[in-house]
Amino acid sequence: MSTVTAARAAGHVRPRSADLYHRGRGVFPSGVTRSTVDLDPYPTYLLRGEGAYVVDVDGNRLLDLNNNFTTLLHGHGFAPVVDAVTDLLRKGTCFSNPTDHEIALAELLVSRIPAIEQVRFVNSGTEAVMFAIKAARAFTGRPAIARFEGAYHGAYDWAETGQYGSFDSARTGRRTARSAYTGAPGTTADTVVVLDFNDVDGLEESLMPHAKSLAAILIDPMPSRAGFLKPLPQFIERLSEFAQEHGILIIADEVLNLRQGYNGASFRYLLAPDLVTAGKIIGGGFPIGAVGGRRDVMSVFGSDAKAPLVPQAGTFSANPVSMVAGRVAMEAMTSQDFGRLERLGDRLRSQLSELAVKHDASFSIAGAASLFRIHPKRKVPNTYPDARTTPAEAARMRSLSRFFRENGILLPADAAACLSTPMTDGDIDSVSSAFEMFLTTSEGGKEEAQQ
Ligand SMILES: Cc1ncc(COP(=O)(O)O)c(C=O)c1O
Repeated sequence: MSTVTAARAAGHVRPRSADLYHRGRGVFPSGVTRSTVDLDPYPTYLLRGEGAYVVDVDGNRLLDLNNNFTTLLHGHGFAPVVDAVTDLLRKGTCFSNPTDHEIALAELLVSRIPAIEQVRFVNSGTEAVMFAIKAARAFTGRPAIARFEGAYHGAYDWAETGQYGSFDSARTGRRTARSAYTGAPGTTADTVVVLDFNDVDGLEESLMPHAKSLAAILIDPMPSRAGFLKPLPQFIERLSEFAQEHGILIIADEVLNLRQGYNGASFRYLLAPDLVTAGKIIGGGFPIGAVGGRRDVMSVFGSDAKAPLVPQAGTFSANPVSMVAGRVAMEAMTSQDFGRLERLGDRLRSQLSELAVKHDASFSIAGAASLFRIHPKRKVPNTYPDARTTPAEAARMRSLSRFFRENGILLPADAAACLSTPMTDGDIDSVSSAFEMFLTTSEGGKEEAQQ
């Protein structure tokens, strides 16, 4: 009996995915090669993408609200990117020398993002954040970083320490960032200060004891993993004042939230960062990261000094494929296009919110522009502790995500979801209909009993 037949006989509704998972388990820890893959109860393996949709190996067509973790602005197989990259493939995909493609993408970013005067390209958001932190250290001559509990900034040790919370340490006598993995050097946490997002009153007290050792405050203007928390204007104001007063740089991590508009997220929330990190959308579907910012701060990457203060290379940094795909995808995103996506986002968020109220269900909708997140909570959370899910709430989100998948929609269970330019009002309405159907099921409606 083939494994697909066996998977079918075992009652799997997606037998080919079940079979691939079986094979994957032989070669990958947990069967997959990135920890963000939805394993509920096994991944949905994809065959191809078509505009706003993906098709899985079992032939199911799904509206893609994930878009590779918010990367794809134009969905799948966007013709201008396909044509440009196809043309490039024949001419060479990576060189040791620079090309004009990197200058063109850099010029686009500099012209759109007010805080970016100069830029350097890398291959991922993780690297972008790592180099921004190193640049801030080199510029200020200070070692420490402040960051917000719960926020995700990629996998550099100083960026991930504190993502999973903090504790009061007897050793340091202060609030200490929790390491992201067992065995991580405790000394990393000694140079990470943990803050609470939107804590207007507690901000200064938390920062003051470390003011002289802080190189930067690392902030995602609307931290997605922490709950897609909308920044309070007074919070942004206080943070900016404190940083300025104490010579601390602000790094706005816009790897995800650059998607919030033509000029990015900091501009939208009146934050004036010294450094900005970008990734995802600026690669047009190919690997990319960028760190940009004030010309004087960015000069730490330069070779005008005897040796660069912060060595930054990377075998694939600024590879022409990512540069061209990114430029073409971004050029196709005018401010009108951002506006249209935002209107679709508004339509979806308001429909889903109204349905939650109509059915008296414990769900609320956070997000902005083309991004949204469904919370298994009655009120949209404002702080990370409010956004944390109980096991019962997490189970409801998994049920919702599973229900969506069974009804032709791919929704990340505990991360930001997003729209893409090929989506229509009809697609939005189909998401709302599926949500309403879910709310009328026993799983969708029984939250009070579970708590
Ligand atoms: C805010 C933020 N920073 C950094 C990263 C890391 O980017 P990458 O996955 O490209 O390394 C992410 C990825 O989701 C992110 O959302």
